[in-house]
Amino acid sequence: MYTDTTATGLDQQITALLQEPTTTHGLARALRAAQKELTVHRTHLASQRAWPNGRIDDTPRKVQIGGGAHQIDGYFNIDIALPADLLWDVREGIPLHDSTVDLLFSEHFLEHIDYPRSAKNFAREAHRILGPEGRLITGVPDAAFVLHQYPEGTDDSGKMIKSWYGKRDCLDHINTHLDLINYVFRDQDDDPTYHPHFWAYDHEKLVQLFTEAGFSTVEPWNFDPELANPKREWGSVYVVATK
Ligand SMILES: C[S@@+](CC[C@H](N)C(=O)[O-])C[C@H]1O[C@@H](n2cnc3c(N)ncnc32)[C@H](O)[C@@H]1O
Repeated sequence: MYTDTTATGLDQQITALLQEPTTTHGLARALRAAQKELTVHRTHLASQRAWPNGRIDDTPRKVQIGGGAHQIDGYFNIDIALPADLLWDVREGIPLHDSTVDLLFSEHFLEHIDYPRSAKNFAREAHRILGPEGRLITGVPDAAFVLHQYPEGTDDSGKMIKSWYGKRDCLDHINTHLDLINYVFRDQDDDPTYHPHFWAYDHEKLVQLFTEAGFSTVEPWNFDPELANPKREWGSVYVVATK
């Protein structure tokens, strides 16, 4: 049976292997990814132990998922990392009761979970927990906007590199418009503090995803900086899906 001791043992083995000079670059990348998942797994198991049937007692009416440091007043924040009201790996479902939520908000979260399994599960779970007429607002990097930079680029290409990658050590490696596309779609370099992108979305894909999950309408959402993270306004696409 899988236990915390197994996870801790594995973690220690990985740390030791990462320090070995003979560990190849490829293996080190895979090990770092596994170590990250082990941390997520341990965090999730600790919460699951408190709520073994996958439902918390509270019934919050406004919920944010994957808010990171951008906590919203009056919202119950679920994330796999602190700060959050509940630490939970949402790829395993949303730990809230059926038809209890009025408004579910998430931005720059969906592209960080795998598609189709976890993304479609998130859409179905969002639909399940929302009450009648309940609304899901979701924002992601707008792949259509980014692809518009290829092959010749626009005035926005430079702004994208500066505002999205300005503080990253990958900056030296973005030399062509295709490099920009690569970074936006993967958002992955060897810096372990950055989370990769697993899937890209545009308006059409968001409509398809949430319609398939059972939402009756999926419309563009007018960006509201009172709710959303103001730094996400530029280059993102948001929709509001109504149950
Ligand atoms: C790029 S950050 C976005 C933070 C914030 N929404 C914003 O726009 O500034 C992605 C967030 O999703 C969270 N996240 C990623 N995968 C998750 C998962 N499987 N379950 C719960 N939260 C997750 C991360 O911990 C992180 O806080």
